[in-house]
Order: sequence, then structure tokens, then C-alpha cells
Amino acid sequence: MKKQIEKIRSAAEKEIQKAQNSQAIENLRIKYLGRKGKLTRLIRKISQIPQDRRQEIGLSVNETKKKIQLALIKQTQITKRKRKAKIAWVDTTAPGQLPLVGHLHPTTLAFREIWPLFEKLGFTLVSYPEVEWEQLAFEALNMPTDHPARDDFETFFLNTKPNPKWGRMVLTPHTSSGQIREMRRVGPPIRMINIAKCYRPNWDNTHTPMFHQFEGLVVDKNINLTHLKGIFDYFAKNFYGPERKIRLRPSHFQFTEPSFEVDINCPLCRGKGCRVCNSGWHELGGAGMVHPQVLKNGGVNPKRYSGFAFGWGVERTYMMKSNLKLNDIRILYENDLRFVEQF
Ligand code: FA5
Repeated sequence: MKKQIEKIRSAAEKEIQKAQNSQAIENLRIKYLGRKGKLTRLIRKISQIPQDRRQEIGLSVNETKKKIQLALIKQTQITKRKRKAKIAWVDTTAPGQLPLVGHLHPTTLAFREIWPLFEKLGFTLVSYPEVEWEQLAFEALNMPTDHPARDDFETFFLNTKPNPKWGRMVLTPHTSSGQIREMRRVGPPIRMINIAKCYRPNWDNTHTPMFHQFEGLVVDKNINLTHLKGIFDYFAKNFYGPERKIRLRPSHFQFTEPSFEVDINCPLCRGKGCRVCNSGWHELGGAGMVHPQVLKNGGVNPKRYSGFAFGWGVERTYMMKSNLKLNDIRILYENDLRFVEQF
């Protein structure tokens, strides 16, 4: 009987080593250890063996059973490993996969279209801090602390100790503080474009909490409203095309006098009035002749110099292009590739 057991063990181990998949291994388990398996049948015969040899044979059968079980486990691991290696196999001769190539964000594209138009007119591109002093963002622009006009520029204040001279720190609510900084930095004649990030706690289809403005400032001798109007006509024609119209609507800003809102006819409804524009017109930004007090605050003599300024939203200006059908400005910052990839 011992010989028989040894024969079964050796045959089982050989066959198991050749098994290449889990089904083949399972078939061998049944063949040797199943209810009618070769070893099982032998175990049943143990009772017929004389008492004095039974223990010895019993131990041998058990040991063989363990060996076969171990061989089955081992072979299962080997086939699994082979399968994984097959999946992870890298064909180094296969053609490479190109990484996805990104591109500039629409706001950057807008910036790159807007700036050259002013560059051609001899404007200088400047950049001022994104975190500004309250004094420059408001006081120097004729908006003292309790002035109601400041409500229009709802502001993010930084949690810092106020400075006795400059006040609290704010996330720049508009680019107009750049007017004061530029007048103090270079003095007239000035032709400045300041394009920067601005922050206000707004969120609707025409407002985002972070947005961009471009601020123009021209200060020189004998500057008047016709210069301002001429610049806007030039910009509208070159940026939007000859068929689009710009209008100046009388308005109020503390830092310009007279002041205007600058509107462009809606590209979606062509001025008829729709869900996005309501009136057929869209506000691009504000403008006006620089207030004499603001010139003084910038260190410029208002008796010798005059100037005009304008501050428009970059996103709003870009949205109004004829070939863009954006009816919600927020989509610009939602990181939705289906939208961004269209540019
Ligand atoms: C101003 O910010 C003035 N500083 C503009 C100005 C400059 C007037 C120079 C006179 C002389 P206003 O708050 O209207 O004005 O904002 C100007 C433009 O910025 C808006 O018309 C709009 O195009 C854009 N804007 C303002 N808030 C947001 C916002 N939350 N999201 C997107 N665009 C905005």
C-alpha cells in the first residue's frame, strides 16, 4: 500500500506542475482528493489494513494529502503570477502615446487679444499688487470709509492688523488703485493699461468672485472726452468687428467726473433683449474723466493736466465677442474640459 501511495503522490505532483490554469488545477484536485479521487479511495481502504500497520499507513496518506494540497496551492499562485505578468507586459516596440497637450485659458487668450490693441496706441502695460491697501483702493479714489459708493465694491478684507497710514489690506476689488500708483510712480504723460485679477463676493451668470479687469489711464495736457470716445470706437472696431455698437451711458463713479458706463450691443440677441442681457445691451465697464481730486491724490497738478480712465471686465469683454455664445460667465472657472477645449 505504501508503494501505491507513493505512486499517487508522484503522479499528482507531476501533473499539477503542468497545469496551466485554475480549471486544470481544480480538475486535478478532484482527480486526487475529490470524493471519488484516487487518494480518497485509498484512505477508505485503511480500515482493511491490519491493526499494527494502520497508524503508519494513515500517517503516510495524510502526509501525501498535505503534499498534494500544497502542490495545488503553489501551482495556483504560479499561474496567477504568470497571468499578471502577461497583463503588465510592455511592448516596447509599440508606437508611443502622445501626452495630452494643454492650451491657454480663454481669459489668457482674451488678455492676449486686448493688450496688443493698446500697445499699438503707445500704452504701457503695468502690473500692480493683487492685495491692496484700503487707502489706495478707496480713499485715494474719493471713497472714504463710510461712503455708500463703497458698497458697490463689496470687498474681501484680509485678517491683518490695519496700518495707520494705509488702512486694512483688501483683495483688490478693482484695478483703479493702479491709477494712483501709476501717477505717483511715473507722473504725466501717462498711457497705462493695468490688467489684473480682482475679487468681490459675487456669484451669478455675469459675476464671479475672482475676475479680471483692464484699466486704462491717460493723463496729459489737454486730454478731453473725445479722446476717450475715440479709444473706445477704435477698440470696438478692432476687437468686436465693424458691425458691433458701443454706447456711453451717464453714470456715477467717485473718481471720475463726468462718469459713464460703457455698453456693447448683445451678440446673442443682436440688441433685441434676451435672458442674458435683458435690455439688448451689456455693460463692459466704467469710464470717465479723472476727477481733479484724484489727480491731486496721484501727485498730478489738475490745472496743468487732465485725463481719462476706464475699467472693464476682461471676461465680460471677451464674452461679448460675436462668435462666442457664452450665457454664463461662471463656466470660465468651472474647469469643465468640454468647454475649455473649445478654445
Ligand atoms: C469699476 O470697477 C470701476 N473701477 C471702473 C472704472 C474705472 C470706472 C475707471 C471709471 C474709471 P464696476 O464695479 O462697474 O466699476 O466694474 C467694472 C466692470 O468689471 C463691470 O462692468 C464688469 O465688466 C466687471 N466686473 C465687476 N464685477 C465683476 C464680477 N464679480 N465678475 C465679473 N466681472 C465683474
